[in-house]
Amino acid sequence: MLSGIQPTGRFHWGNYFGAIRQYIELQDAGEAFYFIADLHALTTVREPERLRGFVRDAAIDLVALGLDPERATLFVQSDVPEVAELTWLLMTVTPMGLLERCHAYKDKKARGLTADAGLFTYPVLMAADILAYDADVVPVGEDQVQHIEVCRDLAGTFNHLYGDTIFRLPKPRLVDGAAKVPGTDGQKMSKSYENTLDVFEGLPAQKKKIMRITTDSRSMEEPKDPQQDHLYQLFSLVGSEKEVAEMAELYRRGGFGYGDVKKAVVAAANEAFATARERRCELESNPSKIDEILAVGAERARAVAGNVLERAREACGLRGSSTRGRNQ
Ligand code: TYM
Repeated sequence: MLSGIQPTGRFHWGNYFGAIRQYIELQDAGEAFYFIADLHALTTVREPERLRGFVRDAAIDLVALGLDPERATLFVQSDVPEVAELTWLLMTVTPMGLLERCHAYKDKKARGLTADAGLFTYPVLMAADILAYDADVVPVGEDQVQHIEVCRDLAGTFNHLYGDTIFRLPKPRLVDGAAKVPGTDGQKMSKSYENTLDVFEGLPAQKKKIMRITTDSRSMEEPKDPQQDHLYQLFSLVGSEKEVAEMAELYRRGGFGYGDVKKAVVAAANEAFATARERRCELESNPSKIDEILAVGAERARAVAGNVLERAREACGLRGSSTRGRNQ
């Protein structure tokens, strides 16, 4: 298992319910590698101090949410330079057209913004991230599926050219009902839409955002299909199974007010993240612990990525480790 998450600010419910919760679930299902994608974040975060802070917060948040560094390898992407070299090898088999079709780049261009080569080649770095650890399963939200397809494409081409057993072809893993978590406005929850509910934000601020969630204008008496309502979808993430079933019934019956649903979301969210909040406070007061976790993680990750890189280097005709470093 492998997945990455960008340190571009605090994690929101989409990150947690779409991806992080899977990381935690899967850490007992096999060998798991999870990393903080700081190289990817460089395409948007240009202030060094902020980036350092975001990386640190991301590590604390992941551990507070239940990622166990004893069971899963947690590390920072840039601590494994092998991945950058692997990116280059993959870049040599990447058709321009494939990257032109990728949505992050296409969206930016469509908005009339200029893209840099970092954003354009972003999916190739992501492919290297995945292939470097021989990943079979990549737990993600729906928005990353296209990138995993690109990864499979590139790995397939490389294998076709240089030998079938160089790269393992990975598959995405999505969670039913949380692959595209809606934001407060009903669109996909995303920092760029400013519609997020953050996992660790202060309760008064979160309450304010929840109470302002947009709702439809149908009368309170009308029965409604819960699955069509983003407020219900948000509640279904944080409420208990019983509460969610009762809420669905209420929607189908009609005659309820959205204000009450919002209050229920506030209360359930508060409870859902209470333990993680406490753990976060403890971790924050012990900074050397996080440094240690990331150092151990980097070492384990480098060992695996080094082997895969070596396999790829030799296969495509670059000098292998047995010849490299000799005097002549
Ligand atoms: P990022 O940092 O944008 O998002 C991290 C994870 O959160 C998921 N996600 C969502 N899931 C459901 N609903 C939403 N509204 C929502 N918003 C975000 C994302 O799908 C993702 O799983 N390119 C990646 C980082 C990356 C990576 C990798 C991932 C770099 N290398 C290798 C997997 C494997 C990204 O920007 O994710």
